[in-house]
Amino acid sequence: MCGIVGYIGRREAAPIIVEGLKKLEYRGYDSFGVATINGCIELDKHQGRISDSSSSTVNLKGKIGIGHTRWATHGVPNDVNAHPHMDCNNRIAVVHNGIIENYAELKRQLVSRGHVFRSETDTEVVAHLIEDAYEKEEDLLSAVQKVVPRLTGSYALLVIASNEDRIIVARYASPLVLGVGDGEFFAASDMTPIIDYTERAIFLEDGDVASLTQDEIEIFHEGKRVTRPLELIDWSGEDTKKGGFPHYMLKEIYEQPQAFYNTVRSVTAETLPVSVKNAESVTIIACGSSYNAGLIIKYILENTCAIPVRLEFASEFKYFPPPIRGLVIGISQSGETADTITAIKQAKAHNCTSLAITNVLASSISRTADCTLFMRAGPEISVAATKSFIAQLAVLMQITSFLRNGEFDDILRSGHRAIEEVLLIDLSDAVSLCINAHSIFYVGRGPFYPVSLEGSLKMKEISYIHAEGYAAGELKHGPFALLSPETPVIAICMPGETYGVMISNIKEMKARGAPVIAIGEEGDLELPEVADIFIPLPVTHPLIQVLTSLIVLQLLAYYTAVSLNRDVDKPRNLAKSVTVE
Ligand code: G6P
Repeated sequence: MCGIVGYIGRREAAPIIVEGLKKLEYRGYDSFGVATINGCIELDKHQGRISDSSSSTVNLKGKIGIGHTRWATHGVPNDVNAHPHMDCNNRIAVVHNGIIENYAELKRQLVSRGHVFRSETDTEVVAHLIEDAYEKEEDLLSAVQKVVPRLTGSYALLVIASNEDRIIVARYASPLVLGVGDGEFFAASDMTPIIDYTERAIFLEDGDVASLTQDEIEIFHEGKRVTRPLELIDWSGEDTKKGGFPHYMLKEIYEQPQAFYNTVRSVTAETLPVSVKNAESVTIIACGSSYNAGLIIKYILENTCAIPVRLEFASEFKYFPPPIRGLVIGISQSGETADTITAIKQAKAHNCTSLAITNVLASSISRTADCTLFMRAGPEISVAATKSFIAQLAVLMQITSFLRNGEFDDILRSGHRAIEEVLLIDLSDAVSLCINAHSIFYVGRGPFYPVSLEGSLKMKEISYIHAEGYAAGELKHGPFALLSPETPVIAICMPGETYGVMISNIKEMKARGAPVIAIGEEGDLELPEVADIFIPLPVTHPLIQVLTSLIVLQLLAYYTAVSLNRDVDKPRNLAKSVTVE
């Protein structure tokens, strides 16, 4: 987690870094700080969010600077633990995304040599280690090159020294991209802070150390000079702004027709890896919403293609790896989730072929897996996943269609139209019911069970109302004891084999006093009778109904959270990219 930004060029660095950090707040937002070089190092750091602050940070002077927005791991969020961290003599400043796992041992050694620590962070050891190495040769590049082999764990590091006109950067298992402008260079956790200035980017490899001056970027790997390809990023600066919407989340929900359309078209017979075309069994590994996308596809692949699908939480897979073979798919919108990446590495060690599905070009997962299918969702800033989730389903549904010889191609290619329609559905009655709820149950059967899991996840993460998704038949095995007029149930009840039994389930819930919001198909005559509130969805193919029902649940969570004055885009305690175990 955490976001970092660096700038070197002809302009004042601080305003560029401050704006960049605001865009990276989805990675963490409990404190922030910036350091610039202006003869000496100027430093300003604070507890809180940079986007809420009218602080002095932006007034730091100097054309070289580094900044950080934090998601605390080692040490509480306060001014002292905020990055950048400095050495004993305030000549070196460091920002870091990742975790230095051997920091305690390194800290003991440094303290015994007389170094004085100010913070509780793991990162501060890096500043002091560089201080030692720098004292010997007064060369920041070579000091950083000497220090990084001593670090275990993960790091994207930006380092400056008061008497050197450059930024030294290093990366291992944490993301770091360099932006190449005209007479100026940028370094950041992702492209969002950079794209307003340049679309030219260099993605560093694990173990790379680079020196950024006003004139050039030099990259080194194990001490040797190397080159890395210059990539053109096709995101626009506008994609990273709110574009008139009150929140990124609402904007991203409204971008879903486009995200689905673009992603469906990007997955073709030519782009699909051979391992997918020949898959006889599949293991899917993921976390959070990506896991829910995997569960939806498990239902679909098993029922339409008779391919057995095993689904694993990446965090469990690492410690309790099941016997696996065949194709392993890692789903991760960010491409940086530590557990998912570790699980992919383990799968490779078992000689499985691995496929990554991610939204982020050159992300760690795409470097780890044997092959990658990229979604075309564009940047997603809000912490709660929405359009990246729909794009994951677009990739996985296209795979299903391919394995059925193109059976669903036409349906998927026009799926965006039904998605557009549901964006306009009036949910005010359902929102009024939810904002007074003590707890909410979501139920469905078949693929609508994972839809209910994802709907409840959205509700709990942004509204802070306790919400649980259940397979509808399971509710009577315990949760029925919790049903009451303050515990609404949201039931997804589409035509098909399970329709009748869902109606019976709804009646059972009503009989126990729970108000029911039913989501069904337009024209349904029974649901408006049995449920308190009926939300009709367009008549369309069951695959697309998975998407439309899901989007209604995203909107319900969004409007409920807004009514409760929650911080929709940055819910408490969460981060979008979970790079710790
Ligand atoms: C975090 C995010 C979720 C996401 C999960 C997995 O918890 O807030 O939205 O689903 O991580 O992330 P990934 O990037 O691997 O899909």
